Amino acid sequence: MDTGRIGILTGGGDCPGLNAVIRGVVRRALADDVHVVGFKSGWQGLITGDVEPLTRLSVAGIQFRGGTILGTSRTDPFADPHSQVQIRENWRKYGIRALVVVGGNGTLTVASRMALEEGYPVVGVPKTIDNDIPGTDYSFGFSTAVQVATDAIERLHTTAESHHRVMVIEVMGRHTGWIAAHAGIAGAADFILVPEVPFRISRITETLANRRGLGRPHSIVVVAEDARPHPDEDFLSDDQKASIYREERLGGIGQLVAREIERRSGIEARVSVLGYIQRGGSPNAFDRVLATRFGVKAVEMVLEGRFGRMAALSGTSVIDVALADAVEGYKYLDPEFYRHAEIFFG
Ligand code: F6P
Repeated sequence: MDTGRIGILTGGGDCPGLNAVIRGVVRRALADDVHVVGFKSGWQGLITGDVEPLTRLSVAGIQFRGGTILGTSRTDPFADPHSQVQIRENWRKYGIRALVVVGGNGTLTVASRMALEEGYPVVGVPKTIDNDIPGTDYSFGFSTAVQVATDAIERLHTTAESHHRVMVIEVMGRHTGWIAAHAGIAGAADFILVPEVPFRISRITETLANRRGLGRPHSIVVVAEDARPHPDEDFLSDDQKASIYREERLGGIGQLVAREIERRSGIEARVSVLGYIQRGGSPNAFDRVLATRFGVKAVEMVLEGRFGRMAALSGTSVIDVALADAVEGYKYLDPEFYRHAEIFFG
């Protein structure tokens, strides 16, 4: 039997639940007397040999904490060919039998390449508040982010109502509108703008005018950071688009939507950008449980030699799926889900 250690790293943007995965991996591995080491700051730790042993004691109680005790980075081990040489050395030096990679689309795509092109025994665990990884029904972190956004929307209702204003709230979601749609429904938004459905600003202002006619001059508009106007009603300049839709960091559409609503409708509008609050802090119960189950499953995949695969939620079961397929493209918001949300617009 292979007696090497299991390595684990967390890569990409942090998200609530990463520590619960780490604890799940360590506890499941120890149950089979397998030891675990953590590489610090994503792939960076594997390249530089920045490693720490993870023990039952060092992971005790961490499932309640946000962020990741291992740190994270967006380091790409394929960016510099020398990194692969260093990884091979460190892999041997630390006696690694398999690597658990916890990440979003970017980190898991790299994990898939490490498995397929370099032949490493790697298993993946999907994390992201965006919930945009195709191979899994849910990624952990999403539920907590939705709750944070929902609480914020709920708070904005009272200030919007008091001032008879439109409150625009910009939420995260690079490429997809999962957070916006879920939090928008849960928080009773009057309009939800998502990247999957180009929005018509005239439809928003008409709806707001109708609401005013009904004696409800205040409104809540939830905007996903990557939402885009319909080409027929594009009110953004090229410069504005270049500054909002940057691949490395999106942001700013909320401000411009609010300004356009105010200009067209005459109703005062204000903006709240929720930002990193959605990613910080303690995971909720759902994410703690999902992350823990993913951690346990990842070790079982290692013990069964199921490499190049990713733990995934299918319905209520945790299964494993081929990593390469699981990270192919993005999982977009279900159109039917958005149609249901639209019933409540206005
Ligand atoms: O993918 C998670 C996410 O929080 C996105 O919602 C957001 O667009 C992006 O990461 C922000 O990335 P960074 O941490 O690099 O600013």
